Amino acid sequence: MFATLPEPQPDAIIALMAAFAADPRDGKVDLGVGVYKDDHGNTPVMRAVRVAEQRLHDKQTTKTYTKLAGDPAFVAAMQKLALGETPDRLAGAAAPGGTGALRVLFELIARAAPGARFHISDPSWPNHAAMLKAMDKAPGAYPYFDAETRGVRFEEMLAYVNGLGTDDVVILHGCCHNPTGANLTLDQWQQLTDSAVEKGWLPLIDLAYQGLGDGLEEDVQGVRHMAARLPRLMIAQSCSKNFGLYRDRAGCATVQCADADEQAKVQATLASVNRLLYSFSPDHGAALVEIILNDPELRADWEAELTEMRGRINGLREGLAEALRQETNSDRFDFIRQHRGMFSRLGATKEQVEQVREEAGIYMVTDSRMNIAGLTQDKLRDFARAAAAAGV
Ligand code: LMR
Repeated sequence: MFATLPEPQPDAIIALMAAFAADPRDGKVDLGVGVYKDDHGNTPVMRAVRVAEQRLHDKQTTKTYTKLAGDPAFVAAMQKLALGETPDRLAGAAAPGGTGALRVLFELIARAAPGARFHISDPSWPNHAAMLKAMDKAPGAYPYFDAETRGVRFEEMLAYVNGLGTDDVVILHGCCHNPTGANLTLDQWQQLTDSAVEKGWLPLIDLAYQGLGDGLEEDVQGVRHMAARLPRLMIAQSCSKNFGLYRDRAGCATVQCADADEQAKVQATLASVNRLLYSFSPDHGAALVEIILNDPELRADWEAELTEMRGRINGLREGLAEALRQETNSDRFDFIRQHRGMFSRLGATKEQVEQVREEAGIYMVTDSRMNIAGLTQDKLRDFARAAAAAGV
């Protein structure tokens, strides 16, 4: 039966993780997978998470199942984190990470509107297209990144979405665009909202990096504007990066519905989709997040640590732009300062990316996406030198 099994399409990011792990060189640098690292190259368990784990350990008396849609207190806390004030008409479910939340929402759309078409940014996180293709729903791509200016091709993006209608779902990155680091301004979010109101397309917001751009509130200004004006929208949240809960798989799928009847139907469907895909979603990470978000002291400490993480990333952005300026004698990498989130694209060819990997042991994704959080201050100059030597 398995003789004819097709080779799976390799995921560039996951393949790079394996290549990095297999590299025996000391001093190698991983700028591949989007995982936060500190100044020592470690991905720490956040302080508030440690305390919450202790509390959970002390107070949890059972590991029996939660609800099919997860713990409602977790879902409510996540929705509040994204939206601030939350309307009554939200449906939501805990999911295994941001990827799980996306998958559940894709499935919901497939049930609600089997003919719906999805649209992703050009470029986008590779798993967006891969997951949709696996569901026989190959997405369209709206213009997004301008490789020349390193900004957003907003006029073209707007023209594209203005051509859509009520059968279209547009996946937007809530903040910290992956893989480019080029983000929409609030004014642009407002224009997109006008388009969604007028044309009726449905936004699905992938929110995986809240707090790692400009701040917890700042990063969701656009999302909140959209939610306030539109009857319907969907959000897939991840707790992997901003709570550092990668392997615990905590995420949340939210649907803002038009009214209470719709909300009841969508809520029941989310639970049923969970049941079919994996039954109950994992609760350990979700329980930690719920404890942290609902305890003022723990929450303050989590926010403080997140602020330190964001400050480190933005400090590295400054430092890298400066080192590249000096090594290449040009200001063409200053965009790294303006971008936000874990990623930017250096703008190197595949061959240059390979050269930097082979000669300096610095790993970027083939499209030259670099995880800025994987750098340390003492490596900035080495990286800039290697990039300049490769002719970037
Ligand atoms: C990334 O883009 O590197 C992260 O979102 C991790 C992943 O699952 O790809």
